[in-house]
Amino acid sequence: MRRRVIRQSVSQGSGAAGRASRVLNASKWEIDPIIAYVDPERCINSRGGKCDICYRACPYGAVINLPGTGQPSSIIPAKCHGCGTCVAECPQNAISQHHFTDGQIVAQLHALLAEKPEEKVIAFTCRWCSGMGADNAGTSHFEYPANTRNILVMCAGRVDADFVMEAFRLGAGAVLVSGCHPQDCHYISGRNFAETRITRLFGQLEKLGISPGRFRLESVSATEGAKWARIMREMSTVVQELGPEGVRAENEKALPQLAKRLARMREVPEVGYFMRLVEGAPLKGAEAGVQQARDKGLSQTVGVTECQLPEVTACDACQLAAACAPETKQAKGGK
Ligand code: FES
Repeated sequence: MRRRVIRQSVSQGSGAAGRASRVLNASKWEIDPIIAYVDPERCINSRGGKCDICYRACPYGAVINLPGTGQPSSIIPAKCHGCGTCVAECPQNAISQHHFTDGQIVAQLHALLAEKPEEKVIAFTCRWCSGMGADNAGTSHFEYPANTRNILVMCAGRVDADFVMEAFRLGAGAVLVSGCHPQDCHYISGRNFAETRITRLFGQLEKLGISPGRFRLESVSATEGAKWARIMREMSTVVQELGPEGVRAENEKALPQLAKRLARMREVPEVGYFMRLVEGAPLKGAEAGVQQARDKGLSQTVGVTECQLPEVTACDACQLAAACAPETKQAKGGK
């Protein structure tokens, strides 16, 4: 038995050394672009605050946090694995994540709930276990109602409580947050952070009048297609039993409080910009210039000299990434 353990240890050590040598021997190492970044102006530490929430949320030591020094937190790109837990945990909405910005996720919600929202079940799923569990349900032909709509994130830890509240504000019938089983989370502790955050939200939503069955947190592994289908059937049944009128009545009762709690999210530049576009409200500052460029047609849009947006986050928000000159994005540090 003892010899076997030693043999296993040597084998594991060799594997680790092999993986390390791949990094050490490469002249260039490409990292995953799905990483978090901090808006220094929104980080409360840049105003003398003493917040270390992002630091505590990161299991990879990717956050540089110097509370009380006037320095904003920052992310070490090479260490960030892109789970997005720090993004959802930040109470100042000062952190975002490339490809999964608040603006992009809110835009998906608006699109998915544009028609008959009270009949829809919105499912936020991590792309590893739960996303694959949903795929498994499809490929295995497990039947579940067609009123479910998935929004994929890297980890359940990325699901901000604001996203759930925004879904109900938009009239969703039900909302599911689904991740890996806690011990299987691809990002070590993301699922645990999601659980704490979402558990807190259960009570808050119930107080606002949202029936308990309309909001759930689940764990579904890649092989649990049948479980995924069952959860979807159960949630759809809750929505059907309540009926569109019942769902609307609950959502309308909760609306004033939801709108109040979501006020901070609207301060995030890209979310605010998107909301103003959707609601036809006047655009602010540089946003109007981008919108004018957009109205002129993509062929004449944002060039090196025309783009007026100063930040990466704002650059993401213009939604013209495909037309934006590569040198503009590089100059702004965009992707
Ligand atoms: Fe699935 Fe974290 S990766 S919950």
